[in-house]
Amino acid sequence: MKSLICILLIACSNNCHSEAPPLMRKTLIYETTMKNLKPVSDWNKPAHGVWIAALGDMSKELRYTDLAAEAPRIESINALGKQDFPFKTGDIKYIINPDGRIMIRIPCAPDEKLYGYGLQFDKTNQTSRVLSLDVDHWGRGGGRTHAPAPFYISSRGYGVFFNTARFLKVYNQISNRKDATQRPPEVDRNPPEDEVKTQPGPWQAKPMGDSVEAAIRASGMEVIFFAGDSMLEVVQRYNLYSGGGALPPLWGLGFWNRVHAHYSAEQVEQEVAEFTKNRFPLDVIGLEPGWMTKSYPCTFEWQKKRFPDPKKLTQTLLSQGVRLNLWENPYISQKAKIYKDMYPLAGSHMVWLGVVPDYTIPAARKIITDQHYQDHISIGISGYKVDEVDGYDFWLWPDHATFPSGTSAEAMRQTYGLLMQKMLYQDLFKKYNTRTYSLVRASNGAASGYPFVIYSDSYNHEEYITGLSTASLCGILWTPEIRSAKNAREWLNRMQTTCFSPMANLNAWSSGTKPWAFPEVTDDIRAVIELRMRLLPYLYSAFAEYHYKGIPPIRAMILEDGFDSVNKVVIKGKLDSETNPYAEGKIIEKNDQFMFGPSIMVAPFYNKHATKRSVQLPAGNWYDFYTGELVGNNTKITVTAEGLKNRTPLFVKEGAVVPMFAKAPPNSKAAKGQDLIVRHYGKKAGSFSLYEDDAKTFDYQKGLYRTRQILISAEGKLSIKIKGESPALFGKILSVEKPRN
Ligand code: GAL
Repeated sequence: MKSLICILLIACSNNCHSEAPPLMRKTLIYETTMKNLKPVSDWNKPAHGVWIAALGDMSKELRYTDLAAEAPRIESINALGKQDFPFKTGDIKYIINPDGRIMIRIPCAPDEKLYGYGLQFDKTNQTSRVLSLDVDHWGRGGGRTHAPAPFYISSRGYGVFFNTARFLKVYNQISNRKDATQRPPEVDRNPPEDEVKTQPGPWQAKPMGDSVEAAIRASGMEVIFFAGDSMLEVVQRYNLYSGGGALPPLWGLGFWNRVHAHYSAEQVEQEVAEFTKNRFPLDVIGLEPGWMTKSYPCTFEWQKKRFPDPKKLTQTLLSQGVRLNLWENPYISQKAKIYKDMYPLAGSHMVWLGVVPDYTIPAARKIITDQHYQDHISIGISGYKVDEVDGYDFWLWPDHATFPSGTSAEAMRQTYGLLMQKMLYQDLFKKYNTRTYSLVRASNGAASGYPFVIYSDSYNHEEYITGLSTASLCGILWTPEIRSAKNAREWLNRMQTTCFSPMANLNAWSSGTKPWAFPEVTDDIRAVIELRMRLLPYLYSAFAEYHYKGIPPIRAMILEDGFDSVNKVVIKGKLDSETNPYAEGKIIEKNDQFMFGPSIMVAPFYNKHATKRSVQLPAGNWYDFYTGELVGNNTKITVTAEGLKNRTPLFVKEGAVVPMFAKAPPNSKAAKGQDLIVRHYGKKAGSFSLYEDDAKTFDYQKGLYRTRQILISAEGKLSIKIKGESPALFGKILSVEKPRN
């Protein structure tokens, strides 16, 4: 070792500028092999299959789990069973670099696939990628997105959560250390003719790395490892550790319609009347910025010219079973009554010329939640759409901004959406024992328990469908909302996608487009919204599984047994010195289908697959949702809009039991107590756990809920077992049906 240092110093004195700063000399004697990395040895084990380690000093760092909606559900995690630590002792290593970066290195096998990292719109598989996980408006790419939850899941049955609110850069199997033991062989990219065949393989633009290396600039980094018998079980543990999945009120799962930003109370009432006239279900009307006296920045006070009597409007709508949701962004106008009180509790810089409250401070939270209670919640407002908490850089505060609590601008950027969710959920809705289902444009790690759904200003239908899969891997709810369309077919396709998502949302804030805007598809659109309404008991129970067991209600196919998203379609790269100088190829993933609840698979029509598409059926028998016919098992099929009579392609698992309302209710108020039928698919016995509580308060957290275990024998005989204490939410089960066209 000593001699190496000597040589380096001699080399330096010969070649370096004679006045090189001392720092330059120091870098030459710094150990750059893996000897410098320390094994992570101090693991804390809070539950079966969960291991936590703190690297460096965490005392000044913010953990995402500090901002989770609820405490970890340790008992539910333990109920999943014991697990061994997925690595050998000493395999996980870390280093604090001379520049202050903390880096952790997690080994990976060459065949290992990595998924996750929050709401990403381009891929589920994150193998061989470098990602910057910073909260941002979608469009910057490279990992930056509305909800870049720093959690990945490996196909080998474990997951890693970087639980520190900092900008994180992660190299997934992409960097190669000089002393790594597992490295692809070196290949000559330009060999002479007669040596081509002797090369050990094709030259790779990105030689496969043997690890995930992730780094932040901070005084400490916390990592949480989760194990499981399957990737789904790993996701369950992550969700349960984050407090369990969100349980929305039943009304949140009905149909949403956001009106134009300049609508008045009168126009809102007319809109509701038109929904009734056109026989379209409706549960929530969303008011966009014009409901306030001033917006961008905001006052949160009612614009009396448009809304002279907000209480009367809210109550009139509630009596018709329709709730109001209010748009807001958190930046406060000088015209707001709370501006003066908030000023000292706000950060150094403004956003949209409004002050930026530091919501880590209880006094700041109190000022705004008192105002919100007084002006909104006490009159019956059901929730918010929290806008502009994501980015871009030129809209939000700079990275060097300061906040009165001492929280760094970076940590604030990573958590502002989370802080808003925490404040509204805990200091407002939970405090007044009324559930919300709301929207927010940014989130991050450990957010599983928040009944807030992410939306975006981007609008690519394919990306919106991919988002349903990626969000489900990291405790995020995502709505592929519909805003407008170029033609009737697109309108129908987008409407079908949103109806099988966590929130069926029409956001016509700018276009003002009505669901019946394209008369040639109006009946088909009504039919898909009605189908969602009929499926409310099924969907509500799927959310209960999310809450109590951590199983995402809408899920990526890779969490299903027998499905391989990569599907072996490889596009070989062609060398082109201008457009593809490294001749990089592409692997096509199948991310355009997803699970809806326990047993329905959705394969929407979209973009160039507007009326015809391929569907990959995982292993096991799959049935057509509408006809009950066997469609296939572990195979690829093609479906057409014509063959499906313009309905959404839906496929159901063998033995599935699907409870549905006998008739589509116009809203969730009318749905309560309505009778059900149960569909049974295939030839095997099946069961379904129908979840019931009051569907609107937090009393379920005191144990006030019940389940009806619906059991159907192979012959189609029904039996029911009731467990738990709570009045019924739904009516009686009228019959078991085999689906017919
Ligand atoms: C955008 C938001 C839209 C709409 C609009 C109103 O930022 O993404 O959905 O609410 O603001 O001004």
